[in-house]
Amino acid sequence: MSGIHKKIVVLPGDGIGPEVTNAATRLLIDCASAFGHQFDLHEMPFGGNAIDRCGEPLPAETLAACRESDAILLGAVGGPKWDALPIGKRAESGLLALRKGLGLYINFRPIRVREALIGISPLRPEKVHGCNFEIIRELAGDIYFGAHEHSSANGVESARDVAQYDEHEIERVARYAFERAAARRKRLASVDKANVLATSVLWRKTVARVAKDYSGVSLENLYVDNAAMQMVLSPAQFDVIVTGNLFGDILSDEAAALAGSIGLIPSMSRGDSLKGALYEPIHGSAPSLAGRDIASPLGSIFCASLMLKESFGLLPESEWIESAADRVLEQGYRTADIAESGSQPVGCSKMVELIRVEMTDSLLHAERYGWGV
Ligand code: IPM
Ligand code: MG
Repeated sequence: MSGIHKKIVVLPGDGIGPEVTNAATRLLIDCASAFGHQFDLHEMPFGGNAIDRCGEPLPAETLAACRESDAILLGAVGGPKWDALPIGKRAESGLLALRKGLGLYINFRPIRVREALIGISPLRPEKVHGCNFEIIRELAGDIYFGAHEHSSANGVESARDVAQYDEHEIERVARYAFERAAARRKRLASVDKANVLATSVLWRKTVARVAKDYSGVSLENLYVDNAAMQMVLSPAQFDVIVTGNLFGDILSDEAAALAGSIGLIPSMSRGDSLKGALYEPIHGSAPSLAGRDIASPLGSIFCASLMLKESFGLLPESEWIESAADRVLEQGYRTADIAESGSQPVGCSKMVELIRVEMTDSLLHAERYGWGV
């Protein structure tokens, strides 16, 4: 078997970012040595730490390194230290600049309720059983990237944020969503607010036009308020959801809660090409948990497995990591965010160690696990 050689830029970021990213890179290194691949990992400053070190959240060298990479692994950015900065100078603005600078207009968030964790979903087990859907969030437009203005007249402050889409921006993400749906259960839910917003009217019209090229996929349009409700009433109805930047941000946190914790969900952001796709857990930098070895590394670990699968086409390697994590969860080991009565509480580093032991064990007993390495 001949291995692959890839360049991965690592942006640990702030708060719990470095701890959880460290967990994922550890497993990527294990993967390279077990399967004969070469992953060159380059760590770069990004976020609040880059503001401290370089005066800006996205230094030019970091952006340049990302452009040269095959894939990017990001932890999380932001924290109270930088929260008082004006909106365009905060750590989070580095994240938006990175997404824009790399042309990442698709954000893919897989939502799967893991059997071992069904008991920690806030919904009854029968509601979330088998729940497995994908959220495709547009990532480079909408109210995130329109003008943000703050003004003051006659002693009264006011502010405005501009939401804007053109049809090409909608079409390219809609096409991706139809492709994903076509490869799955062939159901696409497009979420908008077309009863109020002009951008949503254009969204719905454009999605309907793209739908003509995908006759095998059934399309349903939902208003965002209804979509939020449907997600808690009967989440198993969803297959692929496509929506704009702001609605996607909100709905994906809600969806993560169904799966048990926001700490479990990875994401992939990409543009026209998969080269330089960005993988980041959807959780934040959780400053109150940082440095205490209690954060869950699972979101970042699932980013590593998603990268192996989506960017590098390494399905067995991806499955190797995912299934080891599932077995550790089945054995009852839990970080604080996914604890339930009777479970074994463990910290971040212990969770990583347990998953690595499972990974090693499954290679040693390859036949039992069906590995052909
Ligand atoms: C996310 C986050 C970011 C977003 C923040 C940190 C700017 O919430 O990736 O979902 O709103 O896109
Ligand atoms: Mg968010």
